[in-house]
Amino acid sequence: MSGGLAIAVRVSRIDTVAANIKRFRLVRHDGEPLPVFSAGAHVIVTMDDDGHRRRNPYSLMSAPHDTSGYDISVLRVAESRGGSAFLHEKLREGDALTISHPVNLFHADKRGRKHILLAGGIGITPFLAMMAEFDRANVAFELHYAMRSREHGAYWQELVERYGAHRVKLYFSAENDVLPVASLLHNQPLGTHAYVCGPDRMTDFVLRTARECGWPKSNVHSERFLAPISGKAFDAELLRSGIVVRVGDHESILEAVEAAGIDAPYMCRGGACGQCETAVVACNGVLAHHDVYLSEEEKASGRKVMICVSRFDGTKLSLDL
Ligand SMILES: Cc1cc2nc3c(=O)[nH]c(=O)nc-3n(C[C@H](O)[C@H](O)[C@H](O)COP(=O)(O)OP(=O)(O)OC[C@H]3O[C@@H](n4cnc5c(N)ncnc54)[C@H](O)[C@@H]3O)c2cc1C
Ligand code: FES
Repeated sequence: MSGGLAIAVRVSRIDTVAANIKRFRLVRHDGEPLPVFSAGAHVIVTMDDDGHRRRNPYSLMSAPHDTSGYDISVLRVAESRGGSAFLHEKLREGDALTISHPVNLFHADKRGRKHILLAGGIGITPFLAMMAEFDRANVAFELHYAMRSREHGAYWQELVERYGAHRVKLYFSAENDVLPVASLLHNQPLGTHAYVCGPDRMTDFVLRTARECGWPKSNVHSERFLAPISGKAFDAELLRSGIVVRVGDHESILEAVEAAGIDAPYMCRGGACGQCETAVVACNGVLAHHDVYLSEEEKASGRKVMICVSRFDGTKLSLDL
């Protein structure tokens, strides 16, 4: 099912928490409790922007056991195709939205004896829920949080107050602080798990350093806030539906398919969950795979495409959809 069952919510509160970051409190429209979720989960927020439907994933940052509402924090992206701009500039307290049920692709591993969380900028959001869960269960953790500046970083003061400076370390690039990834990943006790969520360069560096330090793959976890990439417009032939859709330059294949009234499956809309995997029946051109789900061999085979983030450059693309 596309995105699972939807939940009607109302925005009960909006706060500006840092330069370009707002927090939104969402409560159920019918006043009932929201589903319990596990830390690291996200929801897909569906927005009606003057008749234009936008759907973006946002991590749940509130405490997982708090079912009275969900909190999300959203960075206003400079090159926004509309979602973060809508949330920052048009959405008001009291407005209605629809969200999906929470989905978790960034679990904390309960077997971990210690957890090291590496956050960059808005990548702090899933860790806010994780820290609440670790603290409640008395599990050892450390947060290493890199931000552009004190003004651009969200929640850092309250995190230090709540969890203590021994567990929360801050790095402001405007003050020439550098997150010491290599020394952090060296010499950790056996059974430690590391988690990273931040800009791609940071995530790549942490994953590479962990590999070089000999960390087992199963102890290193990451989530990327991937979004559809813009590119040249193209046509995609949907063989099962018997139509051709035009995929605009600022649109994903999934968005074009949905706009044509076809219900395609998705869960993360960020190239990570595998739900939107679609078989490529014919392809005369180059598939630009932007997901982190398919293996390099699968990408090279040209037989599958993740339609939420990937694009195409060529003359013919036929999909089993
Ligand atoms: C699982 C998951 C969880 C997410 N959780 C959050 C969250 O808690 N808070 C949050 O603000 N965003 C989160 N995102 C990103 C979010 O879904 C949107 O991509 C983001 O809000 C921008 O949306 P947009 O519609 O304004 O622009 P988009 O069209 O989605 O993006 C426009 C351009 O900006 C780039 N971009 C997108 N996000 C960023 C970013 N953070 N920094 C720099 N460039 C970016 C895109 O690659 C694209 O080129 C999450 C994404 C995923 C996949
Ligand atoms: S919807 Fe998750 S990979 Fe496309």
